[in-house]
Amino acid sequence: MFADLMRKKSLDEILAAPEAGHERGLKRNLTAFSLTMLGIGAVIGAGIFSSVGTAAAGGADHLGAGPALMVSFVLTAIACGFAALCYAELSAMVPISGSAYTYSYATLGELVAWIIGWDLIIEYAVGNIAVAISWSGYFQELLRGFGLHWPVWLGLDYRTASQAAASVAAAVAAGKDPLTEVGAAAVRSAQALSDAPHIGSFAVVFNLPAFLIVMLITVILVRGIRESASFNSWMVGLKLAIIAFFLGMGAFYVKPENWTPFAPNGFHGIAGAAAIIFFAYIGFDAVSTASEESINPQRDMPIAILGSLAICTVIYIAVAAVLTGMVPWNQLGTAEPLATAFSSLGMNWPALVISVGAVFATTSVLLVFQFGQPRIFFSMGRDGLLPAWAAKVHPKYRTPHITTWMTGIFVAVLAGLANIDEIVQLTNIGTLFAFVLVCIGVSVLRIKDPGRHRPFRVPGGAFLVPFLGAACCIFLMVYLPPASWWRFIGWLVLGAGIYAAYGYSSSVLGRRAGRPAKRPAFMTWMAYGFFLAGTGLFVIPHDAGLGQLIAEAGDSANADHTRALVGLTMIVAGIVAVTVGAVSGRRRLA
Ligand code: ALA
Repeated sequence: MFADLMRKKSLDEILAAPEAGHERGLKRNLTAFSLTMLGIGAVIGAGIFSSVGTAAAGGADHLGAGPALMVSFVLTAIACGFAALCYAELSAMVPISGSAYTYSYATLGELVAWIIGWDLIIEYAVGNIAVAISWSGYFQELLRGFGLHWPVWLGLDYRTASQAAASVAAAVAAGKDPLTEVGAAAVRSAQALSDAPHIGSFAVVFNLPAFLIVMLITVILVRGIRESASFNSWMVGLKLAIIAFFLGMGAFYVKPENWTPFAPNGFHGIAGAAAIIFFAYIGFDAVSTASEESINPQRDMPIAILGSLAICTVIYIAVAAVLTGMVPWNQLGTAEPLATAFSSLGMNWPALVISVGAVFATTSVLLVFQFGQPRIFFSMGRDGLLPAWAAKVHPKYRTPHITTWMTGIFVAVLAGLANIDEIVQLTNIGTLFAFVLVCIGVSVLRIKDPGRHRPFRVPGGAFLVPFLGAACCIFLMVYLPPASWWRFIGWLVLGAGIYAAYGYSSSVLGRRAGRPAKRPAFMTWMAYGFFLAGTGLFVIPHDAGLGQLIAEAGDSANADHTRALVGLTMIVAGIVAVTVGAVSGRRRLA
């Protein structure tokens, strides 16, 4: 059974697919320059405009790096550099759309390909939830700059509002002034709970701008306005200009004493921040989705992937240096830290310019990923791992409208409800995991298919760089809080359930290899088991490790006792059902 699940697509078949009429060949018109611009377009966004704040100042479940945020950016760049080399080798060798999903179908087999495809939803769709929330933060900042005040309760999520209310209450209880203790932004957010309309005792709080921007982009994408290379280059130019403005202007307000202490929370603070600002680097890998539109992918893919990463690294380190030099690090924990840096110095017009730039920068990231997600669904639908409607195109607009709407509604609703820090952490863990599998894929393919032409090879042989890449990414994953691990594992387990319920029996590759068209009983057992365990993983409280969870489940006096007990029972029952299915499947297929 294991061998069946690990069935691989042949590389020759993958490379022939566009020409064989499975998919109309895309027009090859992208140069190394436009591909690099595409990379920078996808990379510079919410990470550098928003997440740097919590990375520097710390948050509810992690320590801040302080001015050593610069070191965090270097650490993360090293991890991304190894992964980028691996992406470069694979995308030059397999210049076909689908990115990591396609490579892993050829290297690690169908089950891993499904896991990656499912995991990429976290990178693209879940990542965009965070970008939309960041967009909304800067949009509201922009309105404030014009003297307009968006209702607070319609501009953020419940978690952020209640956290802010708690920190303001704590400052008041300690006899301190909340404005200086937690900052104006937190004081404003805390207001949301009392301003909001209530249903019973529940305050209705919703991030409406985040919801609306995603719906607007969805409508545009369904109607088929494709991001043209020149439009993208224009947007990238604007982003770079705004960052240059921040650096040029901010440099005059740097006070070197703000850089002391340099690393207030030591190495843990630096590594924890590195795991968070990984979000700022996500996107250089998205260049690989454009391989089919590249004029000379063998030469240009490595240049664009490594080039966009190098340019962004330099920019990020400079931003970290200026930002932490302008304001004491512990005052940077807002959703709009680059604007906060100026407004807290009483300079409102530069804050306004930065807010305009951030709104444009995050819009272009939203477009790239909101455009990319349906494409990945399209590849999975074409392979039979998702239903055929996933690969349907609109009769008039010729766009994958069903999956574009699905992605849009999913991202928009969650952007209205979710807390940006939690979403960033989940995106990071999911994307790091995809990077780990891509690194492993390079070594596997060197062993399995050593003779294939490789226009670009990672330096140092088949193992060194992939090993270092995987190790660095795992290191960053370890530094993400337990909550993101539970949600990530839950997501993967639910995905395994969908594969068992649907993908296994409808896969084009599996059908060709003689798998039954009707789902066998043992797969049904496994599907139910995965769904049960996956749901259990979302029922348990997410702020505890396994040991603490077991303790909570056994302690009826604990506030989380019922959730821990019910969730853990579902997980155990699910594992039993999966095991029963796997054992009987082995026997049946032996
Ligand atoms: N790197 C992208 C951003 O920061 C996802 O918005």
